[in-house]
Amino acid sequence: MNRCSRMLSISLAGAACLIVAGTALPAFAQPNALGSTIAAKGTAAGVLACVTCHGAKGEGNAAAGFPRLAGLAAAYLAGQLENLADGKRQNPVMGPIAKQLTPAERKAVAAYYGSLGAAPGLASGGGEALKRSDNGAWLALRGRWDDNLPACVQCHGASGAGVGSAFPALAGQSSAYIAAQMHAFKNGTRPGGPLNLMKVVASKLSDTDMSAVADHFGHAGAASPANTAAGSAAKGAK
Ligand code: HEC
Ligand code: HEC
Repeated sequence: MNRCSRMLSISLAGAACLIVAGTALPAFAQPNALGSTIAAKGTAAGVLACVTCHGAKGEGNAAAGFPRLAGLAAAYLAGQLENLADGKRQNPVMGPIAKQLTPAERKAVAAYYGSLGAAPGLASGGGEALKRSDNGAWLALRGRWDDNLPACVQCHGASGAGVGSAFPALAGQSSAYIAAQMHAFKNGTRPGGPLNLMKVVASKLSDTDMSAVADHFGHAGAASPANTAAGSAAKGAK
């Protein structure tokens, strides 16, 4: 793969290629009845229906800070639910919910959300219009090489739509959620992910960098694909 061979020139992103190559998908590939029931109705043990917060189609709720789940890979979602359940990823709202699910229920509901549609990519590809003064777009599309910081899109995909099961989509998430996760990676309330990659990335970013790059990928409105497209168009116009 030429994308990976290009990326192998830097060790951080090169490691990321190895992860993609080594990730196994099949165990999570099938949608299932248990997962969709938990999503729509919750569980008999009292777990709230996921749709209450994450939306009828897993589209999330930007205003409330609830992330989009549709379009994220089942293996990624299952890993986050484990981290939330055992407290490695700390969140006062989602932590107790993850903990209340059994391991089998976490797997089933992750498989269900993993089977929903892909996240929308961002409309803008960068390229010609990219200005050095636009710090967020520059970090997202070019990175900061004098600081050994690869561009976000090298791992998260050209339009932030995600790559494989290890690199989640950023497009479709709200700016506020993305910024909050960057801080969580940096301050250790969320584990850095495979090979601690996101801890390394976030540690190189200032607060200003984080909000700029979060604004580049994120959107402020409701997270439906239609609104995301409108949001990107509006961004491009200003
Ligand atoms: C009361 C609201 C609420 C309910 C109900 C809820 N969640 Fe969440 N969920 C959240 C919040 C808030 C976050 C963000 C946590 C953070 O900032 O770290 C989250 C994050 C997540 C994440 C991490 C997403 C990512 O991109 O890393 C997953 C996976 C998840 N929820 C799955 C579920 C599932 C499955 C259910 C149903 C069993 C569910 N949630 C029910 C509020 C909720
Ligand atoms: C070297 C590869 C790599 C680079 C470069 C990278 N990321 Fe990540 N990112 C990851 C991995 C791997 C994860 C999944 C972490 C996990 O499993 O918990 C992730 C997760 C995230 C998440 C959490 C998404 C969610 O749904 O909760 C955000 C936000 C994020 N990255 C933003 C960024 C931004 C912004 C940049 C650029 C400044 C960036 N990343 C650059 C590898 C990378």
